[in-house]
Amino acid sequence: MERTCLAVILAAGDSTRMKSSKSKVLHPVAGRPMIAHVVEAVASAGISSVALVVGRDAEDVAKAASIDGVGIESYLQKERLGTGHAVLAAREAIAKGYDDILVTYGDVPLQTDGPLKAARQGLADGSDVVVIGFHTDRPTGYGRLLVKDGELIAIREEKDATDAERTVTWCNSGLMAINGRKALDLLARIGNANAKGEFYLTDLVEIARSLGGRVTAVDAPEIEMTGCNTRAELAVIERFWQERRRHEMMLAGVTMIAPETVVLSYDTVIGQDALIEPNVVFGPGAVIDSGAVIHAFSHIEGAHVSQGATVGPFARLRPGADLANGAKVGNFCEVKNGRLGEGAKVNHLTYIGDAVIGAGSNIGAGTITCNYDGVNKSETVIGENAFIGSNSSLVAPVTIGDGAYIGSGSVITVNVPADALALGRARQEIKPGRATPLRERALAIKAAKKAKA
Ligand code: UD1
Ligand code: CA
Repeated sequence: MERTCLAVILAAGDSTRMKSSKSKVLHPVAGRPMIAHVVEAVASAGISSVALVVGRDAEDVAKAASIDGVGIESYLQKERLGTGHAVLAAREAIAKGYDDILVTYGDVPLQTDGPLKAARQGLADGSDVVVIGFHTDRPTGYGRLLVKDGELIAIREEKDATDAERTVTWCNSGLMAINGRKALDLLARIGNANAKGEFYLTDLVEIARSLGGRVTAVDAPEIEMTGCNTRAELAVIERFWQERRRHEMMLAGVTMIAPETVVLSYDTVIGQDALIEPNVVFGPGAVIDSGAVIHAFSHIEGAHVSQGATVGPFARLRPGADLANGAKVGNFCEVKNGRLGEGAKVNHLTYIGDAVIGAGSNIGAGTITCNYDGVNKSETVIGENAFIGSNSSLVAPVTIGDGAYIGSGSVITVNVPADALALGRARQEIKPGRATPLRERALAIKAAKKAKA
């Protein structure tokens, strides 16, 4: 039978070093609060439920942590008395009785299910405590894993360590798995007689051993265990998240010319054989299908780009932009809540908002869908194979039929039937010879100004 597991996520820190008006776990990595990344990781480790230990911004943190399909209950840690004390804030949840308790931190957003699963496996193999450790060249500040005769015998916090212990480079990530049937008893035995006067979760190693239990450690990649304490660390975490995801995407068949300049969101989806040029930024909700091309310096959020469609350079797709196969959105164009049919083209300097454009239509340079009257938003509907002349304003709500033709510079306020030509602009006048007196008058004004000076 499958083992049950409760994940206890510690997120009650006060984020002092973030210098922020909100809890650090609310700060986004790849456009999503870091706490949600942690919940996602524990969810993939096969847990049954999550106990979230919160302090400041309790409600916001609980909200940010809730992702689809994962049951979460929050527990308030009123005083911050250490990691051991924090886990016990979730006493009620632990008391429900689980095979495994997985303790993790809400401020370690790069963690993946790998080490978490390995720690659970350690419990299944008979350990009472499994510590997730990592090797590092810079151990300062971390608890050190002390080993004797090949066995993990204790975790020593930096402040309590001897000089010899401080030379150890195998460190405690803080993440840990505990035998769920013994957890409450083990946790209750933690005291606070140490340099910080805190209840150290790390004491479980010695406690479990003293009771005859088995304690082991598993290793995690150092980078995955990076905790976020400052904005500088947040930026490092973001960089690694981005590198990791871009790498995965390239291995899955996405071409990136200068991957280090492409910014993804946590949920960006890009199909095989899509080409992403340099300096493209994806906000949340972007789906790029196979073979689409995103030219340089484009910004794409909440948008769908179908196979063979091209975007940019310098284009902005906002939420609700949906490009069908072979559609084109060119330079300095913005599309918001707008559907472009197959092969439709919006090539230059255009705003398309709240609009539907039929297949094969061509929207000339500088066209604006005037979707907003200062109060309400209205829709522009353009049929198939229509031609909108350059610099036209389409004042919504307005409908332009299939095959209609709009003369350049028109302001269109009335529906245009299929195959009609619409001209909404002043008729051009020609006045022969009138340029000469105009010019002479201008020259005379210039001469008079010069004489006065
Ligand atoms: C802890 C570990 C240390 C490890 C390090 C890894 C202990 C005693 N030490 O040290 O061995 O190398 O993490 O980063 O466990 N928290 C609460 N409530 C509390 C205290 C902490 O929710 O009362 C949360 C914090 O928000 C944070 C995590 O627990 O997410 C770790 O707390 P922190 O104070 O950063 O622990 P360290 O002293 O760094
Ligand atoms: Ca820390």
